[in-house]
Amino acid sequence: MGKVILTGDRPTGRLHIGHYVGSLRRRVELQNSGEYEKIFIMIADAQALTDNAGNPEKVRQNIIEVALDYLSCGLDPAKSTMFIQSQVSELTELAFYYMNLVTVQRLQRNPTVKAEIIMRGFAENSEDEAASNKKGIPVGFFTYPISQASDITAFRATTVPVGEDQEPMIEQTREIVRKFNSTYGETLVEPEILLPSNAACLRLPGTDGKAKMSKSLGNCIYLSDSAEEVWAKVKGMFTDPGHLQVSDPGKVEGNTVFTYLDAFCRDEHFGKFRDCFVGKKASFTFNSLDEVKAQYRAGGLGDMMIKNFLNAVLNDTLEPIRQRRKELEKNLPYVYDVLRKGSQVAQAEAAKTLAAVKHAMKIDYFEKGVLEELLKEQTEKFK
Ligand code: TRP
Repeated sequence: MGKVILTGDRPTGRLHIGHYVGSLRRRVELQNSGEYEKIFIMIADAQALTDNAGNPEKVRQNIIEVALDYLSCGLDPAKSTMFIQSQVSELTELAFYYMNLVTVQRLQRNPTVKAEIIMRGFAENSEDEAASNKKGIPVGFFTYPISQASDITAFRATTVPVGEDQEPMIEQTREIVRKFNSTYGETLVEPEILLPSNAACLRLPGTDGKAKMSKSLGNCIYLSDSAEEVWAKVKGMFTDPGHLQVSDPGKVEGNTVFTYLDAFCRDEHFGKFRDCFVGKKASFTFNSLDEVKAQYRAGGLGDMMIKNFLNAVLNDTLEPIRQRRKELEKNLPYVYDVLRKGSQVAQAEAAKTLAAVKHAMKIDYFEKGVLEELLKEQTEKFK
């Protein structure tokens, strides 16, 4: 059997460069590798609603933003099926059956859900200040890892390319698959997670150096930011607080500018953007990021110079994305059409799995051939 990819994003905002290095860039590579029989990319609006129940308009508005980001990054509807989660009702049905295979205690141990409960202020007895309003945990939110298992298994995905924070979800999916298969017979496919290979890409920090790039923290560089916006954000980035004078030795570790360079810089950039290292007071010739780092550590290399270089490196990736997005923004009917057609393809695929699941669970009474058997058996019993 061929390899199948399923992955997706919640439509709660435009996608940023953390999404790009954490997953999007990889998806495009995988798509173009020709190694996968099928690729499904899902806009997880139903999951987004689990903690945005009161804000459906936000989710609705961001569907198109995420779709535009997908297409402008190079996801190609001829090779990847892009679809909207809520339009495939089979996914919800699957989740309901999987719920029987998961305990409340197991859900409570999911570290990503745990962190989100505190972040969203849902916790009831947490010491965390964010929890002081004691909102309680919506059941739908609490069970979203189960819904995510449905997303993955519905498409018989073998491979789930996601960021590190999704690891607990994939682990839970694998447990559900094993439990299902051992209870009802071999039906579902156990998926594997595919994490970014480069440490900087695992979790790209925000421009303020905070652990995560997040809309609520206002520390994101968006794929759809203009060149001016990107430069303003790069200029304001955190570096090494101890690097006061250009001549001071600087720290590379924990220096966000260098983390971004680790994620985005390629050797070809040193030839292409040689001018960035030509200054009034000092000039350098670098051929690799290691050489830049060595100079920064030794001192003499100013923050403005590395920020200039980072800006050029970022825009080298972002400019083509921006251009494609501009074109696509003029053709929104096409974008919605991609999603509508993709949702139809996805639904047909999920329906096959749902039928197999219902068959395995013996809740397929009226399927072809089943009723005849059932009648025979029951007639015998009531004779
Ligand atoms: N939880 C993912 C996120 O927050 C989105 C998502 C929903 C997903 N279902 C999925 C990712 C299935 C991978 C596989 O971004």
